[in-house]
Amino acid sequence: MLLFHAFVFAICVHATGQNCINSFLLLSSLESSTRHAQPAQGPLSGQQVLSPPTTSNPRESSIWDVISQTAAFSRVAALIDQHADDVRDILASTQNNLTVFLPTDDELDLISPGFHNMSSELLHETLLYHIIPWPLTLADLLCTPTLPTYLHPQDLNGPQRMKLDISVAGIKIDDDAIVRQEHMAASNGIIHAISSLLHPPAVAALDAVLDLPAADFSIFQHALRHTKLAEEVQAADFSGSTIFAPSNLAFSRLGQDRIGYLFSERGRDELKAIGMSHIVLNETLYSNAYYARDAKLYSAGQGGECAQLNVDRRQTSDLLHLCARGTRHFELETLRSWWILRVDVVRFTRWIEMVVDDVVLVGEKNLAARDGVVHVVPQLLFD
Ligand SMILES: *[C@@H]1O[C@H](CO)[C@@H](O)[C@H](O)[C@H]1NC(C)=O
Ligand SMILES: *[C@@H]1O[C@H](CO)[C@@H](O)[C@H](O)[C@H]1NC(C)=O
Ligand SMILES: *[C@@H]1O[C@H](CO)[C@@H](O)[C@H](O)[C@H]1NC(C)=O
Repeated sequence: MLLFHAFVFAICVHATGQNCINSFLLLSSLESSTRHAQPAQGPLSGQQVLSPPTTSNPRESSIWDVISQTAAFSRVAALIDQHADDVRDILASTQNNLTVFLPTDDELDLISPGFHNMSSELLHETLLYHIIPWPLTLADLLCTPTLPTYLHPQDLNGPQRMKLDISVAGIKIDDDAIVRQEHMAASNGIIHAISSLLHPPAVAALDAVLDLPAADFSIFQHALRHTKLAEEVQAADFSGSTIFAPSNLAFSRLGQDRIGYLFSERGRDELKAIGMSHIVLNETLYSNAYYARDAKLYSAGQGGECAQLNVDRRQTSDLLHLCARGTRHFELETLRSWWILRVDVVRFTRWIEMVVDDVVLVGEKNLAARDGVVHVVPQLLFD
């Protein structure tokens, strides 16, 4: 996959954004889907066919009209009707122009049986998490690693974001649902069929760090518990967070003696300072979006300084930064007093690197939590 990305990036360098996306589509043999409701040609056998409503014109029907008249979406339409009036209103409103991801009836039953037992509140949150505030085609989805949803968790200083990856099977959301090739168009947006129900992140960022594989993160996890930093963050009052989780490899660079000292009684304060310099509260930095302190705004990658920006072909203010290029700079205030992390985000459409303090290249990015985000770093950001 890495090689594939590199290859695509090489092509991107010589192309405009649109051509880049076209090449990408070609390369991954994703056929471009039709813009209007058509009987679907599912890429895999056994997939339920999306038959468009015969009674109405998709250009005049709202997303809600289309969903409620499409046989394959009858289950999800019933869920919305019974549990989420506001979701129905959002999907019916002509003021909106949205993307909604929905599993067909077959997939809801076979692959997402858990929804039967969800509380009404969780079901409501889950449905909001399937809606994006902009109309996005499959090509648009290729361009962006995370997208904001209609779900606004209380502990996050912006909308919850879903994560998009490119896999052999197609575009993958949150590591479980595949976006099917066919979509249906409505007057107020686009409906994409997906292979299973999505689940908004349920754990807090700090707990997500404690849940990372111990084989790679046991030292940081142990440090968080040993210094009681874990408890302090769990009890703290904040909205949004960014945690850089250093791997065991990052700690091993310190050498056995120094690690031994840090975990001794005398080294405890120093170890805590190291931990604190990896934790940012009240600011959330995803690879393509920044939620500032006290901001409650949609953000698709604004913030910091833009050295260079590619004006999106749609030229609407919201979509402007969807497929941005350029370098943005952020200064994040950590829990350790006076310790600022300087993060540069270098982006060429889908290809994004985050560099901390000029030298540390962030590894795995955008592990989403209900109150923030976690990124993996292969070096300590303070020692
Ligand atoms: C849902 O709850 C019922 C009991 O209320 C249980 O028997 C069933 O196994 C649960 N199903 C799932 C998918 O968790
Ligand atoms: C929604 O966006 C699409 C594509 O940009 C556009 O064609 C359509 O007219 C928009 N619909 C509304 C209701 O603004
Ligand atoms: C985060 O914000 C909350 C509420 O505004 C505030 O009480 C808290 O002190 C802030 N924490 C940090 C570390 O900035």
